[in-house]
Amino acid sequence: MTSQLVRPTTGAVRRDARQKVTGEARYAVDRTPPGCLHACPVPATVARGRVTAVHAEAVLQRPGVRAVLTHENAPRLGEADDPTLLLLQDDRVPHRGWYVAVVVADTPEIAREAAEALDVDYAVEDHDVLLRADHPGLYTPEEANGGHPAVRERGDFAPAFAASPVRVDATYSMSALHNHPMEPHASTARWEDGGLTVYDSSQGASTVRDVLAGLFELPPERVTVVSAFVGGGFGSKGTPRPPCVLASMASRHTGRPVRLVLPRRELAAVVGHRAPTVQRVRIGASEEGVISALCHEVVTQTSTVKEFVEQAAVPARAMYTSPHSFTGHRVVALDVPSPSWMRAPGEASGMYALESAMDELAGAVGVDPVELRLRNEPDAEPDSGKPFSSRGLADCLREGARRFGWEGRDPRPGVRRDGDLLWGTGVASATYPVLLSPCNASAHAGPDGLYTVRVDATDIGTGARTVLAQIAAEALGVPLDSVRVELGSSALPDAPVAGGSSGTGSWGWAAHKACTALREELAGRSGPLPSEGVTVEADTEEETGQDSPYARHAFGAHFAEVRVDTVTGEVRVSRLLGVYAAGRILNPRTARSQFIGGMTMGLGMALTEHSTMDPAFGDYTERDLASYHVPACADVPAIQAHWVEEHDPHLNPMGSKGIGEIGIVGTAAAIANAVHHATGVRLRDLPLTPDRLL
Ligand code: MOS
Repeated sequence: MTSQLVRPTTGAVRRDARQKVTGEARYAVDRTPPGCLHACPVPATVARGRVTAVHAEAVLQRPGVRAVLTHENAPRLGEADDPTLLLLQDDRVPHRGWYVAVVVADTPEIAREAAEALDVDYAVEDHDVLLRADHPGLYTPEEANGGHPAVRERGDFAPAFAASPVRVDATYSMSALHNHPMEPHASTARWEDGGLTVYDSSQGASTVRDVLAGLFELPPERVTVVSAFVGGGFGSKGTPRPPCVLASMASRHTGRPVRLVLPRRELAAVVGHRAPTVQRVRIGASEEGVISALCHEVVTQTSTVKEFVEQAAVPARAMYTSPHSFTGHRVVALDVPSPSWMRAPGEASGMYALESAMDELAGAVGVDPVELRLRNEPDAEPDSGKPFSSRGLADCLREGARRFGWEGRDPRPGVRRDGDLLWGTGVASATYPVLLSPCNASAHAGPDGLYTVRVDATDIGTGARTVLAQIAAEALGVPLDSVRVELGSSALPDAPVAGGSSGTGSWGWAAHKACTALREELAGRSGPLPSEGVTVEADTEEETGQDSPYARHAFGAHFAEVRVDTVTGEVRVSRLLGVYAAGRILNPRTARSQFIGGMTMGLGMALTEHSTMDPAFGDYTERDLASYHVPACADVPAIQAHWVEEHDPHLNPMGSKGIGEIGIVGTAAAIANAVHHATGVRLRDLPLTPDRLL
């Protein structure tokens, strides 16, 4: 495999880089107060049924064990929108791995040993855990995730498809995927004077605070949640998870601070997964490849605990010209863990299928796959009819083709041989919506000439601390090093989660507004500042509450080159290149890191990552990073991320779109399309592991 030096990047260096590499940064597990106890949860060992007895007495006699919480003695919880958080409230076991008890002890080791020794009796019921496209339990939900209608129809798909001279009809599938952030989920909770303080590894402390306040029936101001440093989440920390609830329960029960760290082997059952999908895509086109009819039908799974519908057919509503269109989702509630958010939920799965089908269409009409996409550029967003605030897809495709050396590509599949290796190239488009949520922030000018911006943003490794300081410095018109940013605590002004690639836009808008107002306030003053300085607060309730008259999306184009070993079936990616149109890029250094991080995750989705449901045990079998294969450095080839200049005035004062997720979106399809170009074989089930290649 070739490797090449990545180009040097510019942009402000991460403010917390030194803290992170020296260990000075303190994560949720590093916040162990004096007298802290340690909790270990007990997962159900059956896939469906009821708890009939928990034999706590035996483990309570062990030295150092302080308590065993079960549905019989755990604190009663109040309201929660998310039923996965209503833990230890009844005897029902909705899936294997659901928590049925928590052991609290003096040390993590004692707690873990006791948790493993705890005897639980169950009344076992039959379970049903396998997704099938013909599962009798499939139904059409009202909505897919994100509030999208489950079904959208324009024109009349069936006759338009039947009348099309060229037709593609293909079904793609992908297994469940798990987020597996480097830092597993963890919480340290303490009750004091009737209030609750929680150090939690989460993507949004304000949200965790509100949910805990509801569960423990406290006014939100009596709950403080701190998520100062977070070792990744990829969506699995986008909603509160069992650790903060169980640690808070255990702390209330024992009157002591309690720390709870999930072992990685339990993550698969309790922090969500990207639901498996079976996706049928039908495209009817002219002989020139212009689409007249497009149908994208998604079959996916949810749990019996809550409805979660991976919105994989939604990107097909925005991507290509399609006068006759049907996009729909069906879901079945299985006895599986609840699926949840995973980087580019909806888009990552859906664009794998749509962009693979586009490649099949390119082959069917004999049009270059870049050119085919250009021929299907819509004038307005097909589904809504709204004009695009900006749509840089064509620029990304052209710029990517130029940088990748696409021109002159031999379209014939399966003809480039190099010894045992076949090689080929592929392309796919990417898209991700521009999402924004209301946010609060304050800006303070001190008499010492320093400025402080406060907002409960979360830096999950993205560089939020750094970029928010840049946004503030620019709005204030002051040097970057005179701005401090305080984030990662619900004691700060309320903010939305680091999710949906909306963090920088949402937090940055509020910070920008507060800083702009502060700058005006200071400009109107004369004389020295008062000793306490000047503070201005702002919120973006009004700005973000309005429906935009524009369709707002980021776009991208992914190019991949692969080598397929015809003896071993192994696919190696030799080159990966992404070009993005994502508004203004605020910090090239951290942006590049987001893009190539997403692409690396897309590489894993294409080739190595999968979670296998064991039908007998009713559980995912990959439970550690030795079996759940995320790409390692040696798997990641010459990888490049570039972007086109995009000036879009319809976004936010910074002119930015989100960049955290789009990098994964087209990568898997680009790689799968390259595998087809290399081998001449169209594989439609991810991941493309050697057993599937041979
Ligand atoms: Mo991301 S899956 O929106 O945290």
